[in-house]
Amino acid sequence: MIRSVVVGCGSYLPERILTNADLAKMVDTTDEWIVERSGIKQRHIAAEGELTSDLALKAAQAALKNAGLTADDVDLIVLATATPDETFPATACRVQHGLGMTRGFAFDVQAVCSGFIYALATADNFIKAGQAKTAIVIGAETFSRILDWNDRTTCVLFADGAGALVLQAQEGEGTNDDRGILTTHLHSDGRHHDLLYVDGGPSSTQTTGKLRMLGKEVFRHAVVNLADVVKETLSAVNMTADQIDWLVPHQANKRIIDGTARKLGLSTDRVVLTVDHHGNTSAASVPLALAEAIGDGRIQKGQVVLLEAMGGGFTWGSALVRW
Ligand code: UT7
Repeated sequence: MIRSVVVGCGSYLPERILTNADLAKMVDTTDEWIVERSGIKQRHIAAEGELTSDLALKAAQAALKNAGLTADDVDLIVLATATPDETFPATACRVQHGLGMTRGFAFDVQAVCSGFIYALATADNFIKAGQAKTAIVIGAETFSRILDWNDRTTCVLFADGAGALVLQAQEGEGTNDDRGILTTHLHSDGRHHDLLYVDGGPSSTQTTGKLRMLGKEVFRHAVVNLADVVKETLSAVNMTADQIDWLVPHQANKRIIDGTARKLGLSTDRVVLTVDHHGNTSAASVPLALAEAIGDGRIQKGQVVLLEAMGGGFTWGSALVRW
C-alpha cells in the first residue's frame, strides 16, 4: 500500500519575542499567573507587515531544503490557518507562488488549533489516492492579529509562527513497521461554537473580529477529547502506549499536555514541550514542536510519533506516524 512518508521538516518564528514581563505592563497579569496556569514564559509576535504567508513560505522553504527537494517536485500544498492573509484567495496559493511553483494545487484548511492534523490527514488521503506524490503540509498563524490585547484571559496565551512537513508517497507493506503515516483520526462537534470563536467574519459582521474563549470550559473538553482520540488511535493499529517514542501534542497548556501524557503512562522525557517558549500558535504549534525535536536530534528515523490537537469548532484529531 502507498504510505505518506515524512521526508522533510522546517519552521519559522518571527524575530520579536514578547515575555510575560512585557505583558504584565500591558494588562493586569503576572508572570507567576501565566506560568502556573499555562506554562508559557514567552512567545514570538510577527512584525508589522509580516503576514501568515511570509511565515508559511519560510517554513515551507526550510522543509523543502531539509528534504533535499525543490518546488518543482511538489504536487500539493495544504496550509492550515485560522489567520489567512485575506478572506480569499487561499494563503496556500500565495505560498505556491512564493515557492515559484506553476503546477500542482494548493488550498487552505480551517480547523483552528487542530488545523495541522486536519491538513496532514487531508494530504495523506490525496497521496494514498494517487492524486499527489509529494505534498507540503503547513501550519501557519499570526494569531496576534485576532487577539483583543485588552483581554488578559486570551492575549497572554496565543502567538505567531509556522511549521511545515514534506510528505512523499512510498510503497509500504501495510504493517505498523512501515515508515509514514500509520493512521489519522478527525473529529468535530459544532455544539461548542460559543466556547472558542472569533466574533467577526465576512458574512456575519464584515469585520475580522477578535478571539473569544471560555478557557476553563475548553480545558475541560480538551482533557477528555484528547484522551479519547489517543485511545482510538492506538486501538486502530493495535498498538500500546509503550510503543510510542514521542508524543508531540498541540501546545495550548502545559497542564493539558501533562494530563494526556499521564493518562498514556508516558514519562515527560518522551513528550515534546514548546509551549513555554512558543505559546499557543494554533495550527503552527505541532509542526513547530516537530521541527524543534527533529532539529535537536530527539526524533529519529524509524521512531513512532503521536501527534494530537484540539481547537475551536470544536475540532480535534490525531495522527500516528513512523518517522
Ligand atoms: O488551543 C485551543 C485550545 N485552547 C485551550 O486548550 C485552552 C484551554 N484553557 C486553558 O488553558 C486555561 O483554562 C487557561 C490558561 C485559559 C486559564 O486557566 P484556568 O486555571 O482555567 O483559570 P480561570 O480561567 O479559571 O481563571 C482563574 C482566575 C480568574 O479569576 P477569578 O474569577 O477566579 O477571580 C480569572 O479572572 O484567574 C483570572 N485570570 C487572570 N489573572 C491574571 C484570567 N486571566 C488572567 C491573567 N492574569 N492573564
